[in-house]
Amino acid sequence: MKILVLHGSPKGDISVTMQYIKYLEVCFPEHEWNTVLVGSMIRSLEKEHDRFDAVMEDVVKADMIVWSFPVYHLLVPYQVKRFIELIGERGAAGAFNGKYAMALTTSIHFMDHTARNYIHAVCEDLGMQFGGTFSAEMNDLLKKRGQMAWCGFMKHLIDDVMKKRVLPKAFLPISKPSWNYIPVSPVSKTDPSGLKVSLIADLSSGGNVRGMADRLKACLGIEPIDISRIDIQNGCSGCCHCGFDNCCIYDGTDGFKEAFVKNVMEADVVIFLGTIHDRYLSSAFKKFFDRSFVFNHAPLYWGKQVAWLVSGPLTQIPNLRQIMEIYPGFSRGNLVGIVSDEGGSSQELDALIDSLAARCISLARDKIILPQDFLGFGGMKVFRDSIWGELRMVFPQDYRLYRRLKLFDFPQKKIFNRIVVPLASLMLKIPFIRKAFLKNSKRGMIMSHAAVVKKARSVQEQTAV
Ligand SMILES: Cc1cc2nc3c(=O)[nH]c(=O)nc-3n(C[C@H](O)[C@H](O)[C@H](O)COP(=O)(O)O)c2cc1C
Repeated sequence: MKILVLHGSPKGDISVTMQYIKYLEVCFPEHEWNTVLVGSMIRSLEKEHDRFDAVMEDVVKADMIVWSFPVYHLLVPYQVKRFIELIGERGAAGAFNGKYAMALTTSIHFMDHTARNYIHAVCEDLGMQFGGTFSAEMNDLLKKRGQMAWCGFMKHLIDDVMKKRVLPKAFLPISKPSWNYIPVSPVSKTDPSGLKVSLIADLSSGGNVRGMADRLKACLGIEPIDISRIDIQNGCSGCCHCGFDNCCIYDGTDGFKEAFVKNVMEADVVIFLGTIHDRYLSSAFKKFFDRSFVFNHAPLYWGKQVAWLVSGPLTQIPNLRQIMEIYPGFSRGNLVGIVSDEGGSSQELDALIDSLAARCISLARDKIILPQDFLGFGGMKVFRDSIWGELRMVFPQDYRLYRRLKLFDFPQKKIFNRIVVPLASLMLKIPFIRKAFLKNSKRGMIMSHAAVVKKARSVQEQTAV
């Protein structure tokens, strides 16, 4: 069987993910393996059509395609996103049609499921039969169990492919009704004075985004920043030099860092505007987000209001919505809202944009930050544990920042958990204490909450008098 690996790490051959592939080559020598380093080759694939065509010829010859990549900012790296865009732009999707595919990701398990969903859906859009994703933690290959799971997964998939088994689909195809947004209603203006508001848009990417950006500009009196015009020469190279001092190897060679600091880090309100390309935004946006890794795992949207304005079929891509939610979600920022142009009515979109702008400003003035939900809360725990643990060696900046922000909130550090909880657990083993406890457990659970309500009521009564 001919297996083609499309390897997406910008580190090329010297990548953690690549070692998983090499391990498979040893386990399954009876199959023909061919690897193309699309991640490190992306610039030449963009420029030299012959090289791109040669890769497509390899795709045509293969029985199975393996997408192998590290998770970068909740998705595939920019380089893979761009490669997928090239397939569409150059009309090469036919090469993939009807082939079997699978994906291998390595990561620290922060939002690796959104990367998995993305590549799975893209494969189905390309007409492929998708056999699953092996979502490895970076170091799973170092453990016997990880090695067995990896080989076992592949053995069964190879069997599926050889026997031409039919695999279930998970995603509906996307329909993209297009229409022209032309603002019709008078603009309802909002005064942002005293706040730093950034409108970060990819104005090169078509759709209704330009019209939406113009409307927002008219509401807030703020000029959008077009990321396609910022000089960002390369995607993140994955070298992690930035872990020691937040300095990137590209600092001084292009305009990314200055633009990011000025427009994101220094802002109170950040509104992103973009067009959906395949099942994410444009690769220009992906490059922008990947390069923000220069600030490592810092909660970049801490205390900020964040909103998204999107042109495209967002309700058909819940995975993308989840990605948009997690940026403020894990950072303890506030997601004001996500507005898309799917309604198909200019009047409705006018009202949605005006209202979004007004809500961004009023929430920022009152510094409202809603509680984190499972994704944000759970995601932060993944970072907390990793940065306190092994990552501390490579990312000392993160470690210092997390200490300063008191993010190392391990439960065992709380005196209550260390002293009261074990004692109480012991006492609850005594039958008559447990009986009394259970009898009063409902009231006991709300005792402190009820006290807060009582105090609030008395304060309110006093102020009323
Ligand atoms: C720019 C960048 C973004 C990353 N984003 C994520 C992420 O969103 N989630 C995650 O779990 N790991 C993330 N990682 C960690 C990598 O996925 C992980 O280190 C991977 O194993 C590297 O594989 P490679 O050596 O094959 O490139 C990121 C690393 C970099 C450099």
